[in-house]
Amino acid sequence: MKHTLPKLPYLKTALQPFLSEEAVTVHYEKHHRTYVDKLNKALEGEQKYKDLSLEELISQAPLNGGIFNAASQTWNHTFFWQSVSPNSEYHVLEKSALYKQINDTFGSCEKMLDKFKETALSQFGSGWVWLFKNKTNALDICSTSNAESIIRDNKQPLLICDVWEHAYYIDYQNDRAGYLDAFFDHIDWQFVENNYNAS
Ligand SMILES: [Fe+2]
Repeated sequence: MKHTLPKLPYLKTALQPFLSEEAVTVHYEKHHRTYVDKLNKALEGEQKYKDLSLEELISQAPLNGGIFNAASQTWNHTFFWQSVSPNSEYHVLEKSALYKQINDTFGSCEKMLDKFKETALSQFGSGWVWLFKNKTNALDICSTSNAESIIRDNKQPLLICDVWEHAYYIDYQNDRAGYLDAFFDHIDWQFVENNYNAS
C-alpha cells in the first residue's frame, strides 16, 4: 500500500496571519511530504508492514525506527492540519459535551489552554502537544518528543499542535509562545468535538 500526502483542508493562504503562505507551503510541501516519501521508501520490501494502516504502523513498528518515525510524523502532520481552521468557531465547543468535561477537568477552557501552552513551552526541543482522552475517558494534556505518539499508548487524540521549530520559525522565529497564542485562535473546535464523540 502506497501512502499519499492528504490534501490540505483549505488554501495555503487561508491561515494568515496565523501562518503565512510561505510557512504553510514549506511545512506541508516539504516537511509533511518528505515524511510520506520516507515512509514509502522505508516500507519497500517490508512484507510484514507494507499493508498496515498508519495507526497500525505507529502501534507495531519498532519504536524510533525509520518506519515508526515516518508513519508517526505523517499521521501527526495530517492531524495537525485538521486541528486548525481559517474559521475557528468557539461557539461550537460551548454547546458540546466536551465543553462540560473540559470545565469539569480543567476549571475552564481558558485554563485548559493555559495548561496546553505551559506544556508546549516546557517541551524541550522538537515534539507535539496533545489534548486527549485516556482509556478511562478522562481528558488530559501531554507532550511527546520528536515523532513519539500517544496512539501507541491507546490514548485518543482530540487536538494536536506541532512544536517542532520548523512549524513556527518562518513566522515567529523562536517565539513559540506567540505561535501558541495564534494557534489557539485557529483551533477547529468542530474537529476536536468530532474526535471526542468518535471515541
Ligand atoms: Fe511539522
